[in-house]
Order: sequence, then C-alpha cells, then structure tokens
Amino acid sequence: MADIVLMEREGRVAILTVNRPDKLNALSQQVRDEMIAHLDAIEHDDGIGVVVITGAGEKAFIAGADIAEFEGRSPFDQRQAMASPRIFDVMASFPKPVIAMINGFCLGGGCELSLSCDLRVASEKARFGQPEIKLGLIPGGGGTQRLPRQVGLGHAMRLILTGAMIDAAEAKSIGLVELVVPAEELRARTLEIANEIASKSPLTVRVAKEALRASQRMAVEEGLAYERDLFCLCFSTEDKKEGVAAFLGKRAPEWKGR
Ligand code: COA
Repeated sequence: MADIVLMEREGRVAILTVNRPDKLNALSQQVRDEMIAHLDAIEHDDGIGVVVITGAGEKAFIAGADIAEFEGRSPFDQRQAMASPRIFDVMASFPKPVIAMINGFCLGGGCELSLSCDLRVASEKARFGQPEIKLGLIPGGGGTQRLPRQVGLGHAMRLILTGAMIDAAEAKSIGLVELVVPAEELRARTLEIANEIASKSPLTVRVAKEALRASQRMAVEEGLAYERDLFCLCFSTEDKKEGVAAFLGKRAPEWKGR
C-alpha cells in the first residue's frame, strides 16, 4: 500500500503531511499507523528537534476519523481499532514539540489531534468543530477531556453538543488555536516558530515541555515542586553551563544537547 503520511525535513524540523486530500485527509487506520511509525523514527533522530503536522491540499487539515471505517464495525472491532498506542496519546506525550499547522477543515479526530499538539497555528480559512454528535457519536480521541481543558467547559459543551463549526477567528477568540495567519503565510509563519524552537537546546526544550505538560495533570503545589526539581536538574547539563557562559561572554551559545 502506498504511503499516505509524507515526511519532509527543513533543517531540524520534520513536517508530516496527511496526504488524502480527496477524502479531506480523514484519519484512517493506515494514517494513524503511519503517523505513529514516523513519530517513532523522529523520536530517535537527534537531527530533528520539532515536528509539524498538516494536511495536504487547500481544503482540509483533517476532517475527522474516516467515517467509512465505522460502517459495520462491532463494539469489539472498534475497541481493537482504538487499542494503544493511540496517535492522540502518542502525540500528547511526545518528548519533542509538535505543532499543528491547520490549513483547512479541522474536525472531529482532526480537532482532537490538534489538541494533542503543543501549539496550533491556523490559516484564516480553517474551520473547526466536533461534529460527532451528528453521527450519533461522541468524540473518542480525547475531545471530551482535552477540549474543555483548552477552551473551558462551556465552549467545549457548545461545540460537542451542537456539532457546530466555527471559523478561525472564533477559534482564536476561545483559545482553540494560538495563532491565525493568512493562508499564504501559514507555512512560513509555522516554520518560523518551529525553527525558533529547534534552534534551542533540545535537552532544555524537552525539560521545559515536560514541566508544562505536567501543569495539566498536577495540582499547583505539586507542579511547582516538580518545576523546581527540573530547574535544578538543568544545573547538571553542559547546555546550562554553555548558555550562561555565552550570555556572560556576550556571544551566541552552541548547544550540545547534553
Ligand atoms: N471520513 C471519511 N470521508 C470523508 C470525511 C470523513 N471524516 N470527511 C470528508 N470525507 C470525504 C467525503 O465523503 C467525500 O468523499 P467522496 O468524494 O468520495 O464522496 C470527500 O471527502 C469530500 O468531502 P465532501 O463532503 O464532498 O466535501 P464538502 O466540502 O461538501 O463538505 C465537510 C466538507 C467537512 C463539511 C464534510 O465532508 C463533512 O461533514 N465531513 C465529515 C466531518 C465529520 O463528521 N468528522 C467527524 C468524524 S467522527
């Protein structure tokens, strides 16, 4: 079977593109399996610091799970299809930053996938929603849990219970995406952020991401203690010595990732 998730590299950034534009890049089993395989390789590739996820074509980022695969499935078949490792969780716990570059329809499992990313840059033309309710379903890729944490319970209720679609400006206003840019600038603006992150010490980026992710599952006091421990752990790295020496020496740092 031909590959449907394409991988490109631009310096230290890997770009994964779901390439099924005729099906609005719907998340089929093959797409999920290929994404996990790419992420597994990227995790062990020291040459890659940041991952960008996007969809092929002008119309869609990802228009949800592949609805055609739902037909005729028993609950047991569906449970098997949703067995670990799940792409949503693999991405949410990925050690390197993952950026969603949202170029069009970002619906259902696509919206959930963007919620598993660390940040979201959207084109002005993107549209968002959790339309599962219209299929007699509820979100199954983390939408009922990650969406309220991202936008608050009320906005999540509205999106999930109505299945309504919202535009990029509204998505930005409720905090569903962090940046909205003109469609023709989407790639350049996303890569600018990705490259900025990828130019930092990969070790320190990893620790910072871990601390930030912990804020979503820990109580504040526990999280602050965890942050303090990770901060002190940074004092064991060559990159902390280099960063401080470079600042004091008025020169650019040269990160080693150690
Ligand atoms: N799963 C499988 N196929 C999908 C799909 C999905 N989630 N979303 C779109 N497609 C397919 C369509 O069936 C169509 O295929 P066809 O040309 O073989 O008939 C093709 O992609 C183009 O979609 P189409 O519906 O013709 O485009 P549109 O511009 O008229 O409508 C949407 C766009 C996004 C409004 C519409 O495709 C839609 O509602 N998709 C489903 C979204 C959804 O419910 N996602 C959650 C799934 S749990």
